Amino acid sequence: MKREQFSSRLGFILISAGCAIGLGNVWRFPYITGKYGGAAFVLLYIFFLLILGLPIMVAELAVGRASQKSAAHSFDVLEPKGSKWHWYKWGAMAGNYLLMMFYTTIAGWMLYYVFKMASGQFAGLNAEQVAGEFGTMTQRPGLMAAFMVIIVVLCFGVCVIGLQKGVERITKVMMISLLVMMIVLAVRSVTLPGGGEGLKFYLVPDFSKFKEYGIFEVLYAAMGQAFFTLSLGIGAIAIFGSYIGKDRRLTGEAVNITVLDTVVALIAGLIIFPACFAYDVNPGEGPSLIFITLPNVFNEMAFGRLWGTLFFIFMFFAAISTVIAVFENIISFATDLTGCSRKKAVLINIVVIIVLSLPCVLGFNLWSGFAPLGEGSNVLDLEDFLVSNNLLPLGSLVYLLFCVTRYGWGWKNFTEEANAGRGFKFPGWARLYVTILLPLIVLFIFVWGYISKFFLG
Ligand code: ALA
Repeated sequence: MKREQFSSRLGFILISAGCAIGLGNVWRFPYITGKYGGAAFVLLYIFFLLILGLPIMVAELAVGRASQKSAAHSFDVLEPKGSKWHWYKWGAMAGNYLLMMFYTTIAGWMLYYVFKMASGQFAGLNAEQVAGEFGTMTQRPGLMAAFMVIIVVLCFGVCVIGLQKGVERITKVMMISLLVMMIVLAVRSVTLPGGGEGLKFYLVPDFSKFKEYGIFEVLYAAMGQAFFTLSLGIGAIAIFGSYIGKDRRLTGEAVNITVLDTVVALIAGLIIFPACFAYDVNPGEGPSLIFITLPNVFNEMAFGRLWGTLFFIFMFFAAISTVIAVFENIISFATDLTGCSRKKAVLINIVVIIVLSLPCVLGFNLWSGFAPLGEGSNVLDLEDFLVSNNLLPLGSLVYLLFCVTRYGWGWKNFTEEANAGRGFKFPGWARLYVTILLPLIVLFIFVWGYISKFFLG
């Protein structure tokens, strides 16, 4: 049977960008940037997107397009006989599940905030009270679990409708609305009285901030953010490669996706940081950052309740477009590996993902005594660390090395695939870089990141 394909090129770009664009841009990017000191961190992050993210995205798309399979079988199809690359399917699968174990909870927060905004619950509250609302939510495991369950069921529901009818159509509208909305909000935020300090924090680099955490921990965090924001290393991008035809070269497509993703993250920063400084919220506040900052902005705006509701609706869209894409991948794993029907894969995975998502919910309340990464940390931090700082970078290396070394699929096959069609060519001169230097950079930062985070801090 021919694999279902996207109906249009725009559809492909927007949906791949929809997979890339998500909580990583609007929730994780601001709080990690806030924690590690603002503009200087942003520069590192953009640098890593260019030197690491882009080539790896081409590699993943190429594996997907050439194999026409999800990560469950893509290595089996392309690897040299007798090699063991296909073992990585388990790593990719673990990555998809682990990512969803906390992503569904945060997406649930977005949805909850849609209701809170729409019903006017933030009206008249000061900044402290707004922060208090977030704290109250995290102390209610039943409430958070309920919203998490809604996210899981809803997103699997969209997957059931199928790729073109469901995922593509919905994502296209959502991504375009999100972009427009964010631009409006950025304009409001940068013109807030007192917001100028925030712009300075965000746009004028101050490298002395790196001293506080140590340069290697900062590099490690920037690398993790670059991989997280592009969803690299776990086959989530590869699967989109398997749905496209050969009329476009993959480097150009990877550039489009990366640019869109970066634009959204940068605009998110323009919204958050001026607001932080205007309302005296500490930008290093952590995962709660956007939830305790933004309602203040809406309180200041004419029709703030409406804007706020729309904002959280689109954030919710951004989040679920990623969830849907990753679920799509999880369903393909199940159907490709076991031969079961799509429906059965969906039903079983609804239960599995709900159960796996509970620790993240409980980590904020009933299990808050568990601090796996040191004082103040919780289950979310652990899961995020395992994904962003371990599985994604190492998984990305697997994809890359598979493509560029002769022990894997090999340079010739990879570049032939990447360069099939019209558009940007994958540059031949980059061969030495992607084969030797790039893997060394990732490994170096990985090892020093660990040392710095756990032994020097
Ligand atoms: N790339 C996805 C995001 O940014 C995981 O949310």
